[in-house]
Parts: sequence; structure tokens; C-alpha cells
Amino acid sequence: MIPCQRHLFDIPTDVAYLNCAYMSPLLKSVCTAGHAGLERKAHPWQIKPAHFFEDSEVARALFARLIGASAEDIALVPAASYGISIAALNLAVGPDRRVVILADQFPSNVYPWRELVREKGGEVLTVARPADQDWTAALLAAIDERAAIVALPHCHWTDGGIVDLVAVGARCRAVRAALVLDLTQSLGALPFDVAAVRPDYITCATYKWLLGPYSMGFLYVAPPHREGKPLEHGWIDRAGSENFAALVNYRDGFQPGARRYDVGERSNFALLPMVIAALRQIEAWGVPAIAETLAERTAAIAHRATGLGLSSVPGHLRAGHFLGLRFRGGVPDGLPERLAQKQVYVSVRGGSMRVTPHLWVNDADIDKLFAVLEPALDR
Ligand SMILES: Cc1ncc(COP(=O)(O)O)c(C=O)c1O
Repeated sequence: MIPCQRHLFDIPTDVAYLNCAYMSPLLKSVCTAGHAGLERKAHPWQIKPAHFFEDSEVARALFARLIGASAEDIALVPAASYGISIAALNLAVGPDRRVVILADQFPSNVYPWRELVREKGGEVLTVARPADQDWTAALLAAIDERAAIVALPHCHWTDGGIVDLVAVGARCRAVRAALVLDLTQSLGALPFDVAAVRPDYITCATYKWLLGPYSMGFLYVAPPHREGKPLEHGWIDRAGSENFAALVNYRDGFQPGARRYDVGERSNFALLPMVIAALRQIEAWGVPAIAETLAERTAAIAHRATGLGLSSVPGHLRAGHFLGLRFRGGVPDGLPERLAQKQVYVSVRGGSMRVTPHLWVNDADIDKLFAVLEPALDR
């Protein structure tokens, strides 16, 4: 168990920030790295061509280690939507084939698939929310030979309902469906191993559970997809781009591995150092320890909420770091606003009130949450 790490963040004592699913605060070390990056851009005579590559490679390697992959497998992208769009550009569907998704899935992992089937034929099959909350069983029942692509999260972004990605990955291979994952709501707080799941693509934005900046993300690309089409054709993704003087010798070849999919201007001098600082801190804590610590925290909140008549996905079907509370008759009108007035921050998505603490949270924050919740439910 990791003790409270609030001292590493800049969070006033009276703020109970229970909303990592919305956006994490930045570690002080991450802000320092960002400021140093801005200073670098302020003095461009100190920026050498090698600087366009060095931090990108460090970030790639750190993210790769987090998921048990290698730096060769990783592209730098600005958003989850960008990563999913690369997968959609390079995967095939067609008449009588399906893209399988979950009900109420995050839109960046829905719209690209709707577009794809509109262009190429086939359909999006939305797996309904199962009454017993067991997404894995529902998915295994839905994925058959008609599935061309299965596009999923590790846990549902509204309430943390978990998918057993090892079991779903095995089913996808059995029916020859591609598996595309958006791990924005889990990586950094829930262990994940590429070798066990064997997905085709994984994307992840950095601004939530990776504790990084906004407008940065990663894309893992499995080896069979390395010769695909990038979304855009920029100079740095081409072979030999390290030699700035020779850039007008246009090249057909790309940088090796998944680098061909990097977004333009990926060498962001402020954001990349921030991503690196955040990933180093996560590595130092260790994802299993983060997961265990957050699971205990959310289990205690869920238990206390049950006493008030609220419900949540049962512990064995929920990602430990992610809690969505449901109220009989729906979330009371104005409840998030009333909580915010008392400096307690949560978010409502799809009928659940997400309570998603991280290591900055202390017991007093949780007491504050319940001090507002209890009278609100009495009314
Ligand atoms: C599951 C999930 N994926 C992705 C994102 C962010 O998407 P994008 O990076 O496309 O803005 C969010 C934000 O709430 C999310 O919940």
C-alpha cells in the first residue's frame, strides 16, 4: 500500500479532488518539467536536431515498459481519437462483418467505427449493458466469426465495469477479429500486459491515470500492422529525418517500428518532458501498488455508500481504481454542483456518479464527500 502522496501535488487542504476519471492534477515534478520545456523553446538557439528525437524515444520506452512492449511498438499521438482513427484506417470490415463495442462506450472509440462501416459496409454491434454487470460474458457471447474488429476499454468509463481482456483477446484470435483497445481510463492504475492480451492496437491519452498533460497520448501497434498507412505524412516520420540539411531528399521509407504513425510536431518541447516525468513517477510507485492502494480506497467508499442506499458494480466485476455510484431514481438534480460548492469534485457520466480518487486523496477528503452526500440523500 502506498501512503498518501498529496505532498507531491499542489492541492489545497480544503479541496477533495475525487475526479481522476475526468482529469488528473499535475505532479509538481511534472509542472517543473513543463516549465523547463517552455524555457527551452524560449531559447531556441539551444535546441539541436537531436532534441527532436531524444525525448520522444525516452517517452516511447517508458510507455512501452508500462505495458510490457518495446519502444519499437509505440507511436506518439495527440489524443485517443487519433490512435483509434489510425486503427480504423488500417483495419478491414465489409458487408456482413461487424465492429463490436460496448453500450455507452466513450465516443472517441465509437465514431471512427461508425464512419468505417458507413464507408466500407458492415455494422457496429453494440453489446447491451448486461443485467448481471458481467461485460466479459456478454462480449464472449457476442463475438463470433462475423466480428472483424472488437474495440473496447479495459473498464467502462461510466462505472468501472471491467472487461477480462485476456479472455476476450483469446476469443478475438479464435475468430480472427482484430482487437483495438482504448486504455485511457485504466493504464497507470490497472496492470496490463501486452503479451497476455495480444491486442492489435492500444491507444491511451495521458491526462488522466497517466498523470500527464493534455494533448498527448500513445499508440501501441502490433508487429503485423507496422507497414500500414499513417493518418498524415509529415517530415519527421520518414527515414533519415535526423539529417535536417538533407530533408529535401524526399524519401519513400519511414522511420522504423510504429514511428511512422507519430503525429506531426510530436517533439513537443513542453509536453514531452511532462509525460516523461509523470511516467517515471508511476514507474517508481509501481502500477500494482497503485492499483492495490486505489482498490482499497474505492472499496471503502463503495461500502460506505451502500449504507446510504447507493449501489455500484460489485467488486469482482469492477476495476479497482474506478467507482461509479448509482442512486435509486438517478443522480439527484444538482448534486455534483452542491458537492463542488463544498470543494468536493466528482463527475456524472451515463447515470453514474464517478468517484475516482488517486494517491493525493486522504481520509478527510472522503469524510467531506459523505458530509455532503448524506444530507443530500435525506431530502
Ligand atoms: C475512455 C476514454 N477514452 C478517451 C478519452 C479522451 O479521448 P480523446 O483523447 O479522444 O479526447 C476519455 C475522456 O474522458 C475517455 O474516458
